[in-house]
Amino acid sequence: MISAIVLGAGIGKRMHSQLPKVLHKICGREMIFYAIDSVKDVADNGVVVVINEAIPKEIFEGYEIKVQKKPLGTGDAVKVAIDGLDTDLVLITTGDNPLFEREDILGFYNFFKETNSDVAFISAESDDPTNLGRVVRIGNEFLKIVEETDATNEEKVIKEINTGVYLFKFEQLKKLLEKISNKNAQGEYYLTDALKIAKEEGLKVSVYKLPKKLPIYGINNRYELSIAEKIIQEKILKKHMLNGVTIHNPETQKIDYFVEIENDTEILPGCLLEGKTKIESNCVIGPFAQIVDSHISKGSTVKQSVVLSSYVGENCSIGPFAYVRPENLLVKNVKIGTFVEVKKSKFDEGAKVPHLSYIGDATIGKNVNIGAGTITCNFSGLEGNKKNPTYIEDDVFIGSHSTLVAPLVIRRGAYTAAGSVITQEVPEDSLAIARAQQVNKIGWVKRRKGQNG
Ligand code: UD1
Ligand code: CA
Repeated sequence: MISAIVLGAGIGKRMHSQLPKVLHKICGREMIFYAIDSVKDVADNGVVVVINEAIPKEIFEGYEIKVQKKPLGTGDAVKVAIDGLDTDLVLITTGDNPLFEREDILGFYNFFKETNSDVAFISAESDDPTNLGRVVRIGNEFLKIVEETDATNEEKVIKEINTGVYLFKFEQLKKLLEKISNKNAQGEYYLTDALKIAKEEGLKVSVYKLPKKLPIYGINNRYELSIAEKIIQEKILKKHMLNGVTIHNPETQKIDYFVEIENDTEILPGCLLEGKTKIESNCVIGPFAQIVDSHISKGSTVKQSVVLSSYVGENCSIGPFAYVRPENLLVKNVKIGTFVEVKKSKFDEGAKVPHLSYIGDATIGKNVNIGAGTITCNFSGLEGNKKNPTYIEDDVFIGSHSTLVAPLVIRRGAYTAAGSVITQEVPEDSLAIARAQQVNKIGWVKRRKGQNG
């Protein structure tokens, strides 16, 4: 039985942030979940996550949570984690270590078994070992891990570093944790001291050298966060491409972890696909589209536009330069065109708002055509932020630059004349004209000139 422990209770000073370090997101997902993913399959006895009081427990569904009250060091955090634990082996990783994959951990676990070790950890070669624990050896033999702040100048030049991933026989771990002290430069209980003590006590301590080289081991600041994001972004893009999605200029795309995209969809340059967005097949997205928490159905296009928390049915066309705010439903074959803002509205099959409109809190029927410049005046001015609804039934034609003063109903098949201010219900199949009548003053210009001499 193997239990995994993921350490995430540190404060992360070097992030200079109010937000706990392990909650900083990489491709739309808190970094600690990548670390959890790397160990959870190997851990047949479950995962324990150690967090501090500033981290909400609820986000860790399915995992055991332990709270470390004070960040007294990684050794103390593991002590908190094993309280009440019953297991044979303990696999430990840090929550700021999102680049390790399941395969890396499996390789390490197999090594641990083959070498019959009591204790082992993963080391790696780092071009820039600054701030990382250095692996000190005598000849080839492991001696200890020394932290940057405690290292001598000779130790600081060592490029073999501790990646922060460990395996312990549980019985040994319990005893070792009792023996570590906080007599070091940072005044912390270092988990790494458990390896030195194990070695001194004659236990079998093995070092698994990671067969690959990563650009960073652990995220301590926002520069390292950006390096990790670049790598994880590349993995996400590759997964979609291998599934049959065409992605142009991948270096210009931000596609988050939870986004789903079906095959034969094409993503043009400069897109942000975020949150729990799903894009079905045969869509063309971009260039320069931001889509957040939305569903885009087959055959739809979204160009140079923003779509937030909305459902877009099949064969819809959005943009260029549309702003689809939250809670819209576009049923099918709907067009939301250039410089159009829509909010909390339903557009039934075939409805079109091609240019320069604001449609909010409206229910728009089938094949309705909304002329350029039309505005729904949904603001009620009463009861705080209450908005009034507009209902436009099937086959209505709204003339250009109509002002629709809600609450309002426009019945099936009706027309409004261009430039009308519509304040009353329009009956079925009727034309509503609500504008001042034009007066032509014949010869007015010539008369004016005559007066002025
Ligand atoms: C640690 C290792 C170092 C290794 C590096 C790899 C120690 C003493 N040092 O250093 O050898 O090279 O990781 O990234 O272990 N944490 C807690 N409670 C605490 C302190 C930390 O849960 O009291 C958690 C943090 O949230 C973090 C992880 O442990 O996820 C590592 O802590 P951090 O302070 O980043 O350790 P490093 O100095 O990077
Ligand atoms: Ca770290």
